[in-house]
Amino acid sequence: MKRTKIVDLFAPEKLGHEVSVMGWVRTRRGNKHVQFVALNDGSTIKNVQIVFDMSQFTDEQLKPITTGASIHVTGLLVESMGKGQTAEIQAKTLEIFGTADPETYPLQKKGHTLEFLREKAHLRPRTNTFGAILRVRSALAFAIHKFFNERGFFYLNTPLITASDCEGAGAMFQVTTLNLNDLPKDESGKVDYSADFFGKPTALTVSGQLEGELGATAIGQIYTFGPTFRAENSNTPRHLSEFWMIEPEMAFYDITDNMDLAEEFVKYCIGYALDNAKDDIEFLAQMYDPELIERLKFVVSNDFVRLTYTEGVKILEESGRKFEFPVYWGADLQSEHERYLVEEHFRKPVILTDYPKEIKAFYMKQNDDGKTVRAMDVLFPKIGEIIGGSEREENYDKLLTRINELEIPMKDMWWYLDTRRFGTVPHAGFGLGFERLVLFVTGMTNIRDVIPFPRTPNNAEF
Ligand code: 4AD
Ligand code: MG
Repeated sequence: MKRTKIVDLFAPEKLGHEVSVMGWVRTRRGNKHVQFVALNDGSTIKNVQIVFDMSQFTDEQLKPITTGASIHVTGLLVESMGKGQTAEIQAKTLEIFGTADPETYPLQKKGHTLEFLREKAHLRPRTNTFGAILRVRSALAFAIHKFFNERGFFYLNTPLITASDCEGAGAMFQVTTLNLNDLPKDESGKVDYSADFFGKPTALTVSGQLEGELGATAIGQIYTFGPTFRAENSNTPRHLSEFWMIEPEMAFYDITDNMDLAEEFVKYCIGYALDNAKDDIEFLAQMYDPELIERLKFVVSNDFVRLTYTEGVKILEESGRKFEFPVYWGADLQSEHERYLVEEHFRKPVILTDYPKEIKAFYMKQNDDGKTVRAMDVLFPKIGEIIGGSEREENYDKLLTRINELEIPMKDMWWYLDTRRFGTVPHAGFGLGFERLVLFVTGMTNIRDVIPFPRTPNNAEF
């Protein structure tokens, strides 16, 4: 008999038919006449109840059915008398795939903390919480491709190994095949990278944007969706060393077009998750965050506030609030500042624009005031910055001047500058941190809990 996934089991037309299910045991309870097993196969947050009539089975047969064991059951699917269940299976045959010794199975007990589960990242996908998170994450990834596909964007794959530093932050993971115990040196005693694999220093990319611009200035509208790497030593609930980023880049877009797209995009993704991962979001809301669904609906149905960095700083200065990091014009905003604006002052997502050029990357379009650039950060409740982007400096001379001011090595940038030398166009783009979106939609509070295998400083076990 063909296997039925548990998610497909609850359709009314399945009732009264023989079914075959396979999955992992959540619980077993009962007495000497009847035993009940709650089975989950990961296809849905829902378990199916399997009823064993103990006149048909022996205690010996059911003994291996403990929490975490994997089994295969066939039987008749019937309407359930139990509360909250629509259907249950009257077991006919039982096959044990694998046992899970209750003495040593780490997830034997219910109600483990998220911290404990982080130490068991290899098994935590088997919990209700992580099953739900992984399914929401997958739904969001699909929504992203769907959104861009429906709008005529092309999916562009940019390299993970690169010789340039897009954000100029300098916190990159070096990629090398040189023997670190015996490095080749040149006459001045420096490492001789001509002997390295690519003949020059390379690193894992911090962003696909620069190559994304090459795509956008050729095929118009592209997006990337891939892993990015940052070697900064930030141990916060919102930073990963390896995270996924979505970076659309559009020719002929200005900053307003860019903001409109960013707002439509995040709303679409959240709306898609609400419609297509409802059971999982409801479960997470019930377990961790009672206001979750209300918050998600609020974001989808309200306009984001748009204001300049200068106006934002003024509000913060006049707030009378004592912040851990002082706020003044020119300061890089911290999460506490962003969240004050979003959660307390406006009570809405905020798009902050026109930041001081000193705190933003070299490629952003310079405003006529000589002080600010056409940057935009989208700030969310509970998260702070979820999107960072800008209109790009398309003027060759201005871009080159900025590159020289910041002493960015020109030899690494010649190919990027060619987009401004040949057929330059106004263009813009942004980057959405995928895990920050998953954090927002799941209501989780630590970014380590929304990626299957988190990479953070001192943590690359699983
Ligand atoms: O603001 P960022 O650094 O912008 C860029 O990388 C641009 N190249 C994007 C573009 O214009 N194409 O990063 C973009 C987003 C942030 O808003 C944040 O959501 C996320 O990426 N992000 C991180 N997420 C998790 N861990 C980290 N260490 C992150 N750093 C940035
Ligand atoms: Mg940023």
